Amino acid sequence: MASNRGQFNSRVGFILAAAGSAVGLGNIWKFPFEVGDGGGAAFVLIYLIFCFVLCFPVMVAEIAIGRRTNKNPVGAFVSLGFPNWSIIGKLGLVAGVVILSFYNVVAGWAFGYFFEMLQGNFAIGSEFGTFIADWLKVGIYGLIFMAATAFIVSGGVQDGIEKAAKILMPSLLAIILFLVVYALTLPNAMAGVEFYLVPDFSKVNLQVIYNALGQAFFSLSLGMGALITYGSYVSKRENIISSAAIITLTDVGIAFIAGLMMFPFVFSQNLEPNGGPGLIFVTLPGVFQTLGPLLGVVIGSLFFLLLSFAALTSTVSLLEVPVSYLVDERNMPRKKAVWLTAGGIFLVGIPSLLSNGSSEFWTAFTHLPGREDPVSFMTLIEFVASDSFLPLGGFLISVFTAYVWRTASLDEEVAIGNDGFLGSPLQKFLNFGIQFLAPVILGIIFVLTVLDRFWGYNPF
Ligand code: PFF
Repeated sequence: MASNRGQFNSRVGFILAAAGSAVGLGNIWKFPFEVGDGGGAAFVLIYLIFCFVLCFPVMVAEIAIGRRTNKNPVGAFVSLGFPNWSIIGKLGLVAGVVILSFYNVVAGWAFGYFFEMLQGNFAIGSEFGTFIADWLKVGIYGLIFMAATAFIVSGGVQDGIEKAAKILMPSLLAIILFLVVYALTLPNAMAGVEFYLVPDFSKVNLQVIYNALGQAFFSLSLGMGALITYGSYVSKRENIISSAAIITLTDVGIAFIAGLMMFPFVFSQNLEPNGGPGLIFVTLPGVFQTLGPLLGVVIGSLFFLLLSFAALTSTVSLLEVPVSYLVDERNMPRKKAVWLTAGGIFLVGIPSLLSNGSSEFWTAFTHLPGREDPVSFMTLIEFVASDSFLPLGGFLISVFTAYVWRTASLDEEVAIGNDGFLGSPLQKFLNFGIQFLAPVILGIIFVLTVLDRFWGYNPF
């Protein structure tokens, strides 16, 4: 019964939890760089269009499937009467477990850096390679992070996930706003803003568009049933459309603000903006050092606390997917399901932990066609789970919703709590998105990604 599984206590609680899932490491280290590199405001515009035209229908479908069935991503398809399609949920379950196994490792780095900054150890920036190769240290931080995630999830939907989101998300917002205001006062800040935002349509090519799509999808936590799970805890009174719109806007908004903070920091020291972990873990600590011992400690530790909070609300949603499955389908008590799953996923993450220099075997794990250097185990599973499984999951969810469950059933569920929906232009837009845009584009993305990652073939 729905009441035994738990339910969000309020609309705000649901929105904050789902936005917390969306706002994560991806927003802070990937989005700003992709914007800077992909044409500034031109990229932001394309990204926004993707979020609302392509991702939005999938988000609404996931939430609606969850709310209709009050079930985890595997049970949901069975409940709707299509047990064969529960393969989508199983795929999502595997994706969730695998993504959490390596995402938690990176979250552990952020959390570790928080402590390093508190101690004023800015030199950690130039020692990033040594830091991530120290399996014991990084393992302990990862273990603490996983335990914190499990602790929150073990509290249940209302007293765990919702309560944590209500504390973490406003704190995150306060920290990021404080940091952005501060960063904008630094010398040369405007050069950073300029690099970030001046629109340059000549930089927008197919590769950039493809990156924007992948990033939008990952950032909104779509394709693996995280939002089916959260949707299953939403009451019938809620308006799914406006909730999904707020979740999407929050995700894009925070990613956007992250760039407004990041580039002024980097440009204030005339440093080169580079992508990925290098920007966060190497460049920024050096910038914080120049702020002086006291201010550097304050700003540096706040920054990594922000990153840890963003990661935590995402790891919570990743863990909740397998947990909800064990609770619903195996009748396991929640606490047992949580600690068992979290422990298991931590073990699955050990090869990823060792993939960054501490073990040659896992660091240079395999060769993939078209790549000179060997890829690590961690990179390999990232290619499989987040780069390939998520678009595949999104493709299958949209095909299922439009052609198996049927668009009319989706509309019927969405109309509950949303009086004017049926017959509105929004309904037509949503139906067009789920029937045509999402399956076609996500199908293409999936094929292109598999070709690129595993065959070394890139048509762009
Ligand atoms: N949206 C998160 C981020 O941008 O970091 C990552 C994520 C969380 C993906 C939860 C998928 C998911 F189900």
